[in-house]
This record gives sequence, C-alpha cells and structure tokens, in this order.
Amino acid sequence: MAEIFLPRNSVIDKTSGKHFKCDGKNVKTFEIYRYDPESGKNPRIDKFDVDLDKCGPMVLDALIKIKNEVDSSLTFRRSCREGVCGSCSMNIDGKNTLACTKSIDECNKTVKISPLPHMQVVKDLVPDLTNFYAQHKSIKPWMQTENNSSKENLQSEEDREKIDGLYECIMCACCSTSCPSYWWNGEKYLGPAILLQAYRWIVDSRDKKSKKQRLSELDDAFKLYRCHSIMNCAKACPKGLNPAQAIANIKLEMLNN
Ligand code: SF4
Ligand code: SF4
Ligand code: FES
Repeated sequence: MAEIFLPRNSVIDKTSGKHFKCDGKNVKTFEIYRYDPESGKNPRIDKFDVDLDKCGPMVLDALIKIKNEVDSSLTFRRSCREGVCGSCSMNIDGKNTLACTKSIDECNKTVKISPLPHMQVVKDLVPDLTNFYAQHKSIKPWMQTENNSSKENLQSEEDREKIDGLYECIMCACCSTSCPSYWWNGEKYLGPAILLQAYRWIVDSRDKKSKKQRLSELDDAFKLYRCHSIMNCAKACPKGLNPAQAIANIKLEMLNN
C-alpha cells in the first residue's frame, strides 16, 4: 500500500505555540497560524486574548490590535479595510473570507485564523499568490479594441448590464483557494477567480477584436475543463459573485462561437 507523508513544514508543532493572555470582561481568544519558512521551524498556533471592549468590530481590527500591541511580527496583508482591495483574504473559522468585512460577533467562541488553503505560505497569514497573478496576466485582463481612437467607447445599457456580477470581483482568491480542482491542478487549471475575470472581458461588448481569440486561448482540457461544478467558489465569494456560473457561460460561448 502506498504511504503518503505530509511535507515536514505542513505539520503544526503543537508544543511551541504561545498564549498571550489579557484581562477584561469581554475577552475573546484568537488562534492564529504562525509560520516563517526562513526559520526552519514547523508552523505553530499562537493564542491571543483580545479585550473586545477595546477593539473594533471586525476580525481585521483584532489582527491590527494584536500586531500593534502584542506581537509586531504577526504578518498579514491588508489595505482598504472596506472589502474593496481584496488583500486581507484568509481562512477564518474554516471559511475563506475577508478579515475586514468579517464581524467578530459572527465568529466562533475561539476564532481560528489561517492563511488561504493550499497555497505556499510566505509568512504567517500571507500566501504566495505569484502563480495566481501570473494566471490573471495570462488571460489579458484589459480591453482590446479595434482601433486606438481617443473617443469615448460607448456601450448600450443592455450590454453594460452583462458585466454586472463580474466587474465587482476584487481578486481576493477566496474562491480559487476553496476549489478542490484548483487545489490539485493549480498550476494548469485557471480556477474560478481567473475564469470569472476571463468571462468579464469575453462578454464586454467593447472588447470586439479578441472575443474569439480569448475563447480559443481558454479551450484547453486543463485551463477550463477542470471545473466540476462543485460550487465551493460561489459559497466562498465574499462579494456574493458566482464564478461557477461564469465558467458555465464561457463553455456556452464556446459552443456558440
Ligand atoms: S464550481 Fe468549478 S470552479 Fe467552482 S469550486 Fe467547483 S470546481 Fe471549482
Ligand atoms: S470571484 Fe469573489 S472570491 Fe473570487 S476572487 Fe473575485 S471577489 Fe474574490
Ligand atoms: S483590507 Fe481591503 S478587502 Fe480587506
């Protein structure tokens, strides 16, 4: 029988985590994944008690408070604090979401936070998104028009509506990193986020020049056809988008073109 071993650095060292306690009447504990590949040590889980009476309402507020007041080495991405930039995506209580729009009140009694799953970890809650961004670049996420006129490129209201549910994507990667097909074939399968972005440009009426070319570039057993309609992507999207629907629409476009 085949034996399967986890990479050494994926095994949590349960003996070395620290517990940073605090006093207060309204204290909640945050269990946070800590990992620094350069240390040569295995990941650990640190526990941080946070007095919610002295903290903002969102999980990102707690992380910033911990970083500012308890452990400045805690590493995570964030920028807008408004659910707009997509940089604070992480796994909170087992679900990929944005830390800045996730209310602490909605979390479990003890909040468990880890990086987006199935990605290499740069440090703590920061996943390596190099492949994800390279895949985004590969679908040419910009408008390619027939001429380079400096005039306004008009679009009917009906055509504009076709990109509703697509343009709102903030590239947070919550969907792709919750997709089992992307976990196993992430190097070749473009995954739900990138395919939703691809469809956003395919369906844009102003992008006339390249629609067929865009479709033919996606017509690949791995790039597109690894989606098995498991729908984790739609469940995970913090913006309420449906990448699985966009993928189905790309397949329909291929049939019709
Ligand atoms: S529907 Fe497709 S893209 Fe979405 S999670 Fe399932 S396999 Fe992945
Ligand atoms: S579709 Fe949703 S989950 Fe996926 S990258 Fe865009 S905003 Fe994030
Ligand atoms: S900080 Fe920008 S989406 Fe959370």
